[in-house]
Amino acid sequence: MAKKALITGITGQDGSYLAEFLLEKGYEVHGLVRRASTLNRARIDHLQGFEHGENPRLILHYGDLADSVSLVKLLYSLQPDEIYNLAAQSHVRVSFDIPEYTSDVTGVGAGRILEAIIESGIGKKVRFYQASSSEMFGKVQAVPQTETTPFYPRSPYGCAKVFAHWLTVNYRESYNLFACSGILFNHESPRRGESFVTRKISIAAARIKKGLQKELYLGNLDAKRDWGYAKEYVEGMWLMLQQDKPDDYVLATNETHTIEDFLSAAFGHLDLDWRDYVKFDSRYLRPAEVDLLIGDYSKAKRALGWEPQTRMHGLAKLMVDADLAALR
Ligand code: NAP
Ligand code: GDD
Repeated sequence: MAKKALITGITGQDGSYLAEFLLEKGYEVHGLVRRASTLNRARIDHLQGFEHGENPRLILHYGDLADSVSLVKLLYSLQPDEIYNLAAQSHVRVSFDIPEYTSDVTGVGAGRILEAIIESGIGKKVRFYQASSSEMFGKVQAVPQTETTPFYPRSPYGCAKVFAHWLTVNYRESYNLFACSGILFNHESPRRGESFVTRKISIAAARIKKGLQKELYLGNLDAKRDWGYAKEYVEGMWLMLQQDKPDDYVLATNETHTIEDFLSAAFGHLDLDWRDYVKFDSRYLRPAEVDLLIGDYSKAKRALGWEPQTRMHGLAKLMVDADLAALR
């Protein structure tokens, strides 16, 4: 019988790549979706969910990380083999505007799923993945960051992720749950949300090249990030749940680049000089910034056989190419 996986956040960047990956592996994939006034499923439309009735192995369920009863009911009726908790209010800047909501969904939401696992009686067989984040390292205490680097979050989002991370460790130790956290460094793709900096840049570069836009407003260009390709990172999530024992792993590229470097790569790919177009807007600054992220993925390489293939320059090119193609 096909294994059953439940993905929260299936409509997001990572959820859509993970759904694709698991369907290819023969899984029956269930996704938790929240109700919106308009359908918000562009990233998974090509997988043809229940609305189209064409893919019986992709089934969507209404629910919300803020609604624990819906989670208990779903886990009880579904009895999934694997749960990937990818849902979150995932925007760091926005978390300063809505800290309470971010704490509730990104932090306590993970606790609601963990508790639903216990309440629904599936704790002995299910394997659980928590989407932890390099944002937990914040004001970094070591370079590069590993699974043992102390956390020092710099945003309500980072604090919520630290809470969810430790709750995952706690449920593993308290209830013997097969629960893993992937501490993922920034990963991007043509499906990246349009308000994250890489996608904002790739869209703007393509539009400027086509004469559809003249300027691009950004905030801090000096921050350094370890950027990888989302499509490669979802395989790492799956690998974590296929091991004999649950554990936590960093997924990263072990390279770091400034926002300026990404601008040069993206605009340079189209023979444009970013300095001619980029303007500063203080609205995009954060009350506290994460200045430097660079991850050491050697544990994932050793234990999972996982390694990133795409680095920043290749990533910038593939994102710009995709945005250019979308304009044609
Ligand atoms: P994303 O594109 O922002 O997707 C977030 C998903 O969560 C969407 O499907 C969203 O649904 C859903 N969601 C939000 N609030 C919810 C709620 N209250 N109940 C149920 N679902 C809700 O994020 P992503 O980039 O794919 O990231 C996936 C996960 O990894 C997130 O937890 C993120 O924090 C974490 N992470 C991401 C990165 C990265 O670089 N991408 C790095 C480390 C960790 P809607 O479509 O309805 O909005
Ligand atoms: N979003 C955005 N918009 N960021 C900007 C802008 C802008 O106009 N201008 C400069 N930046 C800088 C931010 O200040 C930050 O230093 C950097 O670009 C990256 O910002 P984001 O792309 O928003 O990503 P993030 O690093 O804050 O958070 C992402 O990565 C985390 C992993 O470290 C998100 O995907 C989080 O969900 C994830 O956990």
